[in-house]
Amino acid sequence: MPVGIFDSGLGGLNIYETLARRLPGVSFCYYGDNGNAPYGVCSQDQIFRYSCAGIEHLWRFGCDLVILACNTASAAALRRIQEEWLPDGKRVLGVFVPTIEKLTERSWGDVSPPRQVAIERVALFATPATVASRAFQRELSFRAVGVDVEAQPCAGLVDAIEDGDLMLADAIAQVHVEALLRRMPNPQAAVLGCTHYPYVEDAFRQALGPLPIYNQPELVAESLADYLRRHPELKGGRARERFVTSGDPGSVSIKATRFLHRCIEFEQIPVPAGRFET
Ligand code: DGL
Repeated sequence: MPVGIFDSGLGGLNIYETLARRLPGVSFCYYGDNGNAPYGVCSQDQIFRYSCAGIEHLWRFGCDLVILACNTASAAALRRIQEEWLPDGKRVLGVFVPTIEKLTERSWGDVSPPRQVAIERVALFATPATVASRAFQRELSFRAVGVDVEAQPCAGLVDAIEDGDLMLADAIAQVHVEALLRRMPNPQAAVLGCTHYPYVEDAFRQALGPLPIYNQPELVAESLADYLRRHPELKGGRARERFVTSGDPGSVSIKATRFLHRCIEFEQIPVPAGRFET
């Protein structure tokens, strides 16, 4: 039974690659909804419907456990998915909580009241939909008090990355860092709250200077490894990998191969997931 990994496009590959390295015995099936990306400019309702359609594809490939390797879907849709839509026996996990647990020095299952933590000023970089949802601040407030979050909606950044134009993406990242630093000149930590952003992590690092950056692939891999230790029944089978997309498999494969520095071949989903008439 493979573990499903879902993203609007290429960003979740960062999470996938780290997971596959960390959990060499586990099978994975990756689904990129490149035909509908970027999600960051969609409404919450659209993101919910696209995410449900993508998760259903992964169920068809036998994935009872799906990681939403997409902050935008985790922020805008995960709660609704879990509360209103998810049938018994299926699980969907997001990428927000592991990041926030790390930031607030908590381990899984710690439900003690919110408390003061070492970091008091956080710079959050995320898509416009993630920032608008305020899900990061909501999850943080369950665990910590007195943390000031300045969030920068990084318009245009995912589009440049999905187009494979990393030079443009670097420049856009820099502009967004400068905009945030004008509002919060001395953050103590930064969170790259979109799984596409590790492709331009160097640009963020240069623009931010010597600041701890919370980067999700390692944090999510650590958290999934721990989850699978507690639920070993969800990781059966021998290790395999499979990549499917709602976009053009040829161009998605070329970009994925370039980003991950190894040959990645995507298959096409016959009907792009979640292509709903509006
Ligand atoms: N990679 C996704 C995220 O983590 C989605 C980006 C998008 O499609 O706008 O937010």
